[in-house]
Amino acid sequence: RKKVTMQTLSNLYKKGEPIAMLTAHDFPSAHAADAAGIDVVLVGDSLGMVALGLDNTTEVVMDEMILHCRSVSRGAKSAFIVGDLPMGSYEICPEQAVESSLRLVKEGRVHGVKIEGGEELGPTIKRITQAGIPVVGHVGLTPQRQNALGGFRVQGKTCTSAMKLLHDAMVMQEAGVFMFVLEAMPPEVASLITQKLNVPTIGIGAGNGCSGQVLVQVDMTGNFQPGRFVPKFVKKYADVWGEATRGITQYRDEVKSRAFPSQEFTYPITKEELERFEE
Ligand code: KIV
Ligand code: NA
Repeated sequence: RKKVTMQTLSNLYKKGEPIAMLTAHDFPSAHAADAAGIDVVLVGDSLGMVALGLDNTTEVVMDEMILHCRSVSRGAKSAFIVGDLPMGSYEICPEQAVESSLRLVKEGRVHGVKIEGGEELGPTIKRITQAGIPVVGHVGLTPQRQNALGGFRVQGKTCTSAMKLLHDAMVMQEAGVFMFVLEAMPPEVASLITQKLNVPTIGIGAGNGCSGQVLVQVDMTGNFQPGRFVPKFVKKYADVWGEATRGITQYRDEVKSRAFPSQEFTYPITKEELERFEE
């Protein structure tokens, strides 16, 4: 498969062909996404939840992002790779954001960075873009700001809130954002924002009118404990947890009964050598 570049994404957008984005957090999950033909692999800070066992994304730090971005970069050979700027790595000033973005590119080997927020990020986005780093904007439900948003809540449900999202996106586009993630908003609002912008929008819980879609891989492959909370927008396309625990349970039982390893899983020795050994 040919390498996906910003040009490729721009062509998909112009053709009206939806862009398929999926998260990955390590080498195997990146390899799977890439092999399946995913256009953009996102190393989201959701890795805090899916890989590090945290309750939310607010504790994720740059060193963790870099480690995981590096492993993803080894698995995703064709996809365009985007890494999240974690909370605390970009808010202080544009210089801090440029420094963090450069680390994600140089040490984490990503092609672009994603940043959560709104119009206040204008100067920051401009500086990162000027450093030659493509920026994806993330508006709507921005999980890093969950404490200020009052939890994981759908955005844009009132006219005022929808107007704010549109305004944020327009300012961020003006500052240089080349693609947006729109998270958790009514489909009509996401569609209207998509129509007003001239760069692609990638929806998650934002309906079918966006220029593409993104999901968290661990969620959509069902690689989680039954009963764990998943948002309404998650469609489960596989049952990785079920298959993995089925296999692991069988392995455990076969170890206990000595059914494993049977002869086919062992290394032979000639009779002659064995007799000499046993003497
Ligand atoms: O962290 C993440 O995985 C994300 C996606 C849900 C867009 O930001
Ligand atoms: Na994220």
